[in-house]
Amino acid sequence: MNNDQAIWTSVDAYFNNLLIASDHALDAALTDCVEADIPLHNLAANQGQLIALLIRMHQSKTVLEIGTQAGYSAIWIARALSDEGRVVSLEIDPKRAEVARNSIKRAGLADKVEIITGAAADTLPLLAAEGYAPFDFIFIDADKPSNPIYLEWALKLSRPGSIIFADNVVRNGAVTDFNSDDPNVQGVQLFTELVAKEPRLSATTIQTVGEKGYDGFLLAIVQA
Ligand code: DHB
Ligand code: MG
Repeated sequence: MNNDQAIWTSVDAYFNNLLIASDHALDAALTDCVEADIPLHNLAANQGQLIALLIRMHQSKTVLEIGTQAGYSAIWIARALSDEGRVVSLEIDPKRAEVARNSIKRAGLADKVEIITGAAADTLPLLAAEGYAPFDFIFIDADKPSNPIYLEWALKLSRPGSIIFADNVVRNGAVTDFNSDDPNVQGVQLFTELVAKEPRLSATTIQTVGEKGYDGFLLAIVQA
């Protein structure tokens, strides 16, 4: 761990202790994630709070999450919604989906969150066909090489005013390595270039440091 990382972690701890209440359901979701041998690719607590604040500010009612993982972010998202709000979350791995469903149920949010198991590239077209769209807020946090496909579907499943929010677009700074042969880096590079070229999107990125290292989000709004 470099020295910067130690500072970032202690600053996260300082602000999180002040601003973010400790929470049994979220802690248990992470414990179950570790016990099930699922990689800890969850948002940090302050990042969960960020997505919750964005959803509340935007007054989103329908949220699509691409990449449930262990359900940690879905808990933050579902809690940020009003009573009628709903989350649809897509997860390729049945084990992760099961752990997530259990954590979401324990958090008392089972009625608000529907997890659909399968490769998002296959389930996204079903959402379109089955009348789920438009979504007010779309969180892209799955396999990064597929980000360009997820962007295409996010646009199809959105409306003017929808928000698109994507995790892990900085990748410890590797996003500016144009010789990278890492498919994750190539995925976020192409994704960002497609966002830039898309006249329906107005976007920025937010670089983040903290307990999760150096990474960042892309935040975009769909416009007419
Ligand atoms: C990875 C994926 C994530 O969504 C994340 O937040 C961190 C890491 C990964 O695949 O390495
Ligand atoms: Mg992520």
